[in-house]
Amino acid sequence: MTEKFYLTTPIYYVNDIPHIGHAYTTIAADVLARYKRGRGVQTHFLTGTDEHGQKVWKVAESQGVGAKEFVDGIVPRWKKAWEVLNITNDDFIRTTDEKHEKTVQAFFHKLLSQGDIYKGEYQGWYCVTCETYWAEGELKEDMEGRKLCPDCGRQTDLLKEESYFFKLSKYQAPLLKYIEEHPEFIAPAPRRNEVIQFIKQGLHDLSVTRTAFPWGVTVPDDPKHVVYVWFDALINYVSAIGCFQDDAQFNKWWPADVHIVGKEIVRFHAVTWPCMLMALGLPLPKKIFGHGWWTVEGAKMSKSKGNVVDPIVLAEKYGVDVVRYFILREVAFGADGDFSYASLVNRYNADLANDLGNLLSRALTMIEKYFDGKVPAMVGSPDELTQELAKLIEKTPGLVDQAMNELSFSDALGAIWQLISQSNVFIEKQAPWGLAKKGEIEKLAQVMAILFKVLSTTAELLSPFMPITSGKIKSQLNLGGDKVAKGEVLFPRLQK
Ligand code: ME8
Ligand code: MG
Repeated sequence: MTEKFYLTTPIYYVNDIPHIGHAYTTIAADVLARYKRGRGVQTHFLTGTDEHGQKVWKVAESQGVGAKEFVDGIVPRWKKAWEVLNITNDDFIRTTDEKHEKTVQAFFHKLLSQGDIYKGEYQGWYCVTCETYWAEGELKEDMEGRKLCPDCGRQTDLLKEESYFFKLSKYQAPLLKYIEEHPEFIAPAPRRNEVIQFIKQGLHDLSVTRTAFPWGVTVPDDPKHVVYVWFDALINYVSAIGCFQDDAQFNKWWPADVHIVGKEIVRFHAVTWPCMLMALGLPLPKKIFGHGWWTVEGAKMSKSKGNVVDPIVLAEKYGVDVVRYFILREVAFGADGDFSYASLVNRYNADLANDLGNLLSRALTMIEKYFDGKVPAMVGSPDELTQELAKLIEKTPGLVDQAMNELSFSDALGAIWQLISQSNVFIEKQAPWGLAKKGEIEKLAQVMAILFKVLSTTAELLSPFMPITSGKIKSQLNLGGDKVAKGEVLFPRLQK
């Protein structure tokens, strides 16, 4: 049986257009998907849009258009962003897709009929921006005594409405047991600890329907209720692969291998979602990975501050691969990071123009100059420096593999750059121009042969991260061809 891998991003709210934070998650998932495919793993990569809920409803209303019309107008922006960023998702789910809505209704119906969903009355505090319910004790208060969302700081609304509830409390003990028995389930470790702490404080049943506005999946047999947007959204991970509709497809892909999400929504993915699945008797996803948050030039990104970084604009200005490289290299996946143009330009010049770009152009220039572009064979016994570099070439794919399996994208890139920078050091030490002058042709051939090997290995290892660059390197190496074909400078230096 071939190995399979099912991975997902969050489905993003469409009240907004994509920014660098959304691009971060989606690029990370794309790199992992490409990496798996490259290793012959059958891969299914899902992303999409979260289109229901009060927040989207309000934005549509404020613009005076119907909610469906509004979401239909904005979804193409999301699809375009992923196209520009070279994202290879296998599917794109919209929560307004009929197929999704049917699965949500079947899911709801099943839990209702087995008593895991019951009717009651909800009274409490709701943050529309976060689409999250808060208990009184969790709220912050301002000087005027207003109840504020502990997450985003905005004012919450006191809700009192008839509502259906999901028996989250019933699954507290089994969930805690599961998490304790599966240390790999929630990553990285700090996220896992936060979730454990949260569960130990006690889980309350969750209000899973709303009556105050009509934008959502209609509750079967009780149409004045719509399903709560998070209950609806989480189900995308199974509706997209045919849950309750196509058993063969569903059994092929479920459970997911990893849900990649931002740290602020780990709780929904590592508490609410597993309890929903347990209630249905379905296996849990193998891993929830909660990555860190980006600020921009030290500040939280927000429309009102006007500091939102548009990944499409960034890609047009610097190149898609530069964006993909920068955001995965700059911070460890899991940690928070700060985006700044200065650090982007620094990395571009240091890592891409200098380290990688120079290595390629120096090596190919020399192969053309000394060997008429024909890569010499490795003959005779290589010296110590060459043997060392050969060992590093051999070792690097394993280091990358280990990092990728831990979703440590920055470490994977770090290992690739170790090879690149060691090769630049190698060139300085070997001083091939001196070998040429002295007529040490065998040694010169060894140096060129190993540098060619470095470059073909690098192109291969880079391909999930920087697919366009990888292709350009491969075509300049002219693998399988007669002569190398030195071409354009990959990354012309940028002025600060
Ligand atoms: O939460 N830094 O959607 P959303 C890093 N619809 N990542 C960021 C980020 C930042 N500054 N800003 C956003 C929702 N993200 C729900 C999800 S899933 C069943 C439903 C990324 O549009 C990160 O992945 O608010 C975060 O979790 C996600 O966008 C939130 O997107
Ligand atoms: Mg959010």
